[in-house]
Amino acid sequence: MMLTPYKLLKPLVMTLDPEKAHKMALGLGSLASYPPVSWVLKSLVFQQPSAKISCSVMGLPLRSPVCIAAGLDKDCQAVEALSATGVGAIELGTVTPEPQPGNPSPRMFRFTEQRSLINRLGFPSCGLAVFKVRLGNISARQRSEIILGVNIGKNKDTPIESCESDYERCSSEIGELADYLTINVSSPNTPGLRALQTPEMLTRVIRAVQHGNKFCKPVAVKISPDCTIEQIFELVDCCIAEKISGIIATNTTLWRPEGFVSEEAGGLSGELLRDQALPTIDAVCKRARGSRLSVIGAGGVSSSLDVAKLLQLGCDAVQLYSGLVFEGPGLISRINREIGNSNVSNHLPGSTSLTQTV
Ligand code: FNR
Repeated sequence: MMLTPYKLLKPLVMTLDPEKAHKMALGLGSLASYPPVSWVLKSLVFQQPSAKISCSVMGLPLRSPVCIAAGLDKDCQAVEALSATGVGAIELGTVTPEPQPGNPSPRMFRFTEQRSLINRLGFPSCGLAVFKVRLGNISARQRSEIILGVNIGKNKDTPIESCESDYERCSSEIGELADYLTINVSSPNTPGLRALQTPEMLTRVIRAVQHGNKFCKPVAVKISPDCTIEQIFELVDCCIAEKISGIIATNTTLWRPEGFVSEEAGGLSGELLRDQALPTIDAVCKRARGSRLSVIGAGGVSSSLDVAKLLQLGCDAVQLYSGLVFEGPGLISRINREIGNSNVSNHLPGSTSLTQTV
C-alpha cells in the first residue's frame, strides 16, 4: 500500500520559508540512516522500481532512469531516505574543497502557481573533509542499491583563472568514494563559473579532473540552458574529444519567460525552465548521437510524460529536483510505476523500439 503523508503535510510545508522547509525535510530524511526507518520507507511508503525499468548510464547500472539532481542533498545528509523513494541515482553536492556559507539569505524562492523555484544559494557547502566522512559512512548494503554521483565545484574565493586546482582536489579526494563525478561549470550563482563553458577553459578543467581521477570513475559535465546552439555543439565536441562519459543538460536558467514577474535574481528551475532547457537537451542529444557520451536530461521534469519526452529525444536518464518540492517524494514511485506500465522503457539504453507515448 502507498501512504502519501506528503499530501497531508503539503499545505503546511508550502507556508514555510523554502530553505527552512528544505532543511527540515533533510533533517527528517537523515532519520532513515536508522535501518528500521529505512525499512519502513522502502517497504510501506514507497514502491520500489520494477526490473523492467533498469538501465545503464555511463556504464553504471541504474534501477530506474529517474534520478535526483544536484543541489537537493548538497552535503550528503539524506542518502538512505532519498534512495528509499526508488530513484536510480542521487547526485550529491555541489561540494566545494573548503566549507563556505554561500550567499546571504533569503536566497531560495518558491512560485507555487508556476511550480518553479528561483535560487541564488551560491554553493553553500560543508566542504570536502566533512563530505568525505559522510559518504564513507554509507553502508555497503545501501551502496549496492543506489548509484551516488558527486557534483564538484570551486570555492567562491578561488580565482576563475586558477580554479582547476579546486576541481582536481575534489576529484582526487572524492573519486574513490563516488560512483561518478560531475564537473559543474553551469551554476549561475558563482561569479564567473559559466565562463568555464568555453572549449579552452572546459578542456583545462576536464584535464585537471581526469588527472585527479585515479580510480577512473566516469566523469560528466553539467551545462547551462543559456548557451547558444553553436556553444552547445562546441561543448559536446569538447567532451567527446576529452573522453567524458556523460553530459547533464541542464542547470538552472537566468532567462525569464514572458509574463513571469519576479525581482529575484538567481537560477530558475521547475516547470518554467522546461521550455528553455528542451532545445539545449535536444541539441546535446543530436550532437552526441553515435558517440559514447551518455545524455542525462534535466529541467522541469515532473511527470512520466516529461520523462518519456526526454527519453524520446535521446536522453539515457533524467534528473529532477523542483518537481519533488511541489509533488513530494511519492512522485518518484509514481513515475517509476507509470513508465514501467507503459512501453516507455523501450527507450532506455539498450532497447531497440522507439515508438511510444505514455
Ligand atoms: C539546484 N541545482 C544545482 N545544480 C548543480 O549542479 N549544483 C547545485 O548545487 C545545485 N543547487 C540547486 C539548488 C536548488 C535550490 C535548485 C532548485 C537547483 C540545479 C538542479 O540540479 C537542476 O539542474 C535544475 O534545478 C533543473 O531541474 P528541475 O529542478 O527543474 O527538476
